[in-house]
Amino acid sequence: MLAGKRILLIISGGIAAYKSLELIRRLRDRGVSVRCIMTAAATNFVTPLSVAALSEDKVYDELWSLTDESEMGHIRLSREADLVVVAPATADLLARMAAGMADDLAATTLIATDKPVLIAPAMNVVMWHHPATQANLTLLASRGILRVGPNAGKLADGEEGLGRLAEPHEILAAIDDFFAGSGLLKGRRALVTSGPTHEPIDPVRYIANRSSGKQGHAIAAALAALGAETTLVSGPTHEPDPPGARVVRIETAQEMLVACEAALPVDIAVCAAAVADWRVASPATQKVKKDGRLPVLSLTENPDILARLSTTGAARPRLVVGFAAETEEIVRHAQEKRRRKGCDWILANDVSPASGTFGGDSNRIHLVDDTGVEDWPAMSKREVAERLAKRIADHLGAGTT
Ligand code: PMT
Repeated sequence: MLAGKRILLIISGGIAAYKSLELIRRLRDRGVSVRCIMTAAATNFVTPLSVAALSEDKVYDELWSLTDESEMGHIRLSREADLVVVAPATADLLARMAAGMADDLAATTLIATDKPVLIAPAMNVVMWHHPATQANLTLLASRGILRVGPNAGKLADGEEGLGRLAEPHEILAAIDDFFAGSGLLKGRRALVTSGPTHEPIDPVRYIANRSSGKQGHAIAAALAALGAETTLVSGPTHEPDPPGARVVRIETAQEMLVACEAALPVDIAVCAAAVADWRVASPATQKVKKDGRLPVLSLTENPDILARLSTTGAARPRLVVGFAAETEEIVRHAQEKRRRKGCDWILANDVSPASGTFGGDSNRIHLVDDTGVEDWPAMSKREVAERLAKRIADHLGAGTT
């Protein structure tokens, strides 16, 4: 399955760097083309000559090498791969990735790539458990960075605990898993809505809600990771663009509808956006002034994007998935919503303040379809997205059209 794939392997400087040689050999045995970048520290642990000999390619280690830049260029280097693997990934490189730094070729390539990234961390056990490292890992995971390891055991410095680089066969298995899953939605087109909408009152003020876009963006990333050609239509959020998805930014519900209709036809539509149900009928063209009287806002109903997508006749996506944001009688209201809007599945979630769902990192879903209700345990929004994407792939039948 791996034959013909292209992997960009970034080797950073830790004692475990020697294992990258075995990884390269195993990948080459499987017919994978391996191009390597080494950090300056990595060259203290393994020689570029060994890496070049095993990968049968030149090794890239300098950001400002005129020869390398004229032959390849770091942007091209970062894009000409199916997967970027960082093994070993030191605490230092993880911190630089999380901060978005571009201070050497490895870090620059990682911030310039539009390809999926798999990290295999290796470090001392105290460094691993340090809150800074853990915060960096959480941030990287929220951006869709995949991870294998570390393992627990005796470390090179004599201490025991988590921090050992995953074994080459385990990294290879993670790469295998990535490519096995990555094709499940190949050839499918997906549309995802995410975030809030902003409905103007005047040029300065708007009506909005508490959606952060975390759940919708994670779903777009998960569908793209399974190979779907994914369009994300997003209201204003601070979330980074999901890797692999085309992002269309809008502000209002009406703009969201136009962008969604422009993305059709699609096989899958997932409406995770918290679209404002109403907008101000006639927003003021100039800032409304305080003049001693209370302004009266006259509202009108917004188009229901989920309902429209569910009833677009021949252009109807094969699977339309909505969300139901409820504060009471969650499942009953979601069942009613599914019937009223005509979508296939609805993912009900509790958005009462105590749940922390709006803006939080975790969610608890009740999936309602025509057969009943499936209660999912509480999990991260990323896990919700991955579980949903996998369920969608199973539903559509992997590989069939
Ligand atoms: O963004 P986060 O902070 O991560 O939070 C995630 C979330 C709580 C926003 C998300 O999980 C969620 O529940 N999204 C749906 C929010 C919502 O507006 O729910 P609703 O019950 O009001 O609407 C039902 C469905 O109709 C939703 O799929 C919604 O996208 C859709 N809708 C609603 C109104 C409208 N005018 N057009 C729509 O498409």
